[in-house]
Amino acid sequence: MTQPIILAIESSCDETSASIIQAGKVLNNVIASQTVHQKYGGVVPELASRAHQQQIYSVVNEALTSAGMQVRQLNAIAFTRGPGLLGSLLVGVSFAKGMALGLQVPLLEVNHMEAHVLAHFIDDPRPAFPFLCLTVSGGHTQLVVVHDYLTMEVIGETRDDAIGEAFDKAAKMMDFPYPGGPLIDAYAKEGNPKAFSFPHTAIPGLDFSFSGIKTAFLYFLRDNKKTEPRFVEINKNDICASLQAHLVNMVMEKLKLAVEQTGINHVAIAGGVAANSGLRKSLQIQADQAGWNVFMPKFEYCTDNAAMIAIAAHYKFVAKRFASLEVAPAANLVISG
Ligand code: KG4
Ligand code: ZN
Repeated sequence: MTQPIILAIESSCDETSASIIQAGKVLNNVIASQTVHQKYGGVVPELASRAHQQQIYSVVNEALTSAGMQVRQLNAIAFTRGPGLLGSLLVGVSFAKGMALGLQVPLLEVNHMEAHVLAHFIDDPRPAFPFLCLTVSGGHTQLVVVHDYLTMEVIGETRDDAIGEAFDKAAKMMDFPYPGGPLIDAYAKEGNPKAFSFPHTAIPGLDFSFSGIKTAFLYFLRDNKKTEPRFVEINKNDICASLQAHLVNMVMEKLKLAVEQTGINHVAIAGGVAANSGLRKSLQIQADQAGWNVFMPKFEYCTDNAAMIAIAAHYKFVAKRFASLEVAPAANLVISG
């Protein structure tokens, strides 16, 4: 069977999500975001697992109902195996195993980072292989050469923080609620990106490092608050625009280097930070200037969602790469090619 109906479950971090895919076409993408973390300034793993446990049944049920599907019509159950928070992953894996066992259908395991990349195959325009993908999320920053649906190669990644973490931590320093990335983006739209400058701390090659800018930003706020305690309040838009421009430049520099080194000018972005308007604009300008062919996912497929797990699972099903019922989640799962 090459036209399966698959239920996919995503539970790696703080979104509980389910999606049904039929013959490679995503029918829906139900997402329950957890708001419990907002007041803590970051995801609290124990609370995330508990919220997944509370939401997973209704999220899966809603995906089935809105697709007009009965469970007995499902040909396979897919889940995110990793990377992610172990307790959160365990909820999705266990639920998927229970369903696969109960329905006597195969199980499909999906790597969350590969799924972010494959989100480009949910809708048109779909990139042609090989293409380069810059995956920028709350947990990862990677440059990936995508050879085909099942073969990917990481050619650069962060040595410390992820870019989404840099956005969120900077936002936290300004007392914005979690996750601060989208808020920085919103304020940046009203600000001057050249108002403030930050030290350029790039490392050589295709790897990234964001710990330097995080520390520089901390000192920048501390020093300016000494002379003007209301510094953030007064300059919020300009601070956000300048910081965002700096972070976007950091990843754009690496992307240009990757295109130069690989000779691949089909370029995609993926992951939560791919929703950032500054990054999208900068990529489009670069594409127009350098003749790149660029691909940017719809907003709902940038941040964590089960539709991307569903499309990844579809290609695994077609290749008959099923998982064993003994499979365990892997918090540090890597892209292995
Ligand atoms: O891919 P994702 O949903 O989860 C992970 O797999 O990590 O990414 C979440 C990250 C968070 O750090 C969030 O602040 C960031 O994506 N993010 C943004 C924007 N939308 C989401 N960062 C900057 N600008 C945005 N518009
Ligand atoms: Zn993600």
